[in-house]
Amino acid sequence: MFDDPQSPAWTPLLDVAWKARGHAHAPYSRFQVGAALLAADGTVFGGCNVENAAYPVTLCAERGALSAAVAAGLQPGGLVAAVVVTDVADLTPPCGACRQALVEFAGSLPVLLANRSSRQLHRLEDLLPHSFTGAHFR
Ligand code: THU
Repeated sequence: MFDDPQSPAWTPLLDVAWKARGHAHAPYSRFQVGAALLAADGTVFGGCNVENAAYPVTLCAERGALSAAVAAGLQPGGLVAAVVVTDVADLTPPCGACRQALVEFAGSLPVLLANRSSRQLHRLEDLLPHSFTGAHFR
């Protein structure tokens, strides 16, 4: 299902991600990003990037979606799939901070990158190999 980038199973996530992207607040970079996360109970959470005049305060779409999911009760291990959408030709992978944040809730996670015409499927463990986790200091 989520191991095929063309699977129709991605459609609800893509719909949520594109809708969220439409709400992105990105007046500084003018680069709008949408994200969607599927939780184990079937809920899909959307997020968009939210920029700020103080540039480092910017929130990425992926971490916005993650915050919404956690606020609704997502537990570590409860993520099933993730989508990131932009309208540029070179598909947008999650930044390092977002990879680390996602690893906290899913060590292995299919991550679909998409624009309006193409898709690319990755796994989070490939995007962030040898990741640092709580197990390293507990
Ligand atoms: N951005 C995201 O929201 N997610 C990513 O995966 C990469 C970058 C945002 C942050 C900033 O608002 C804009 O894209 C340019 O870096």
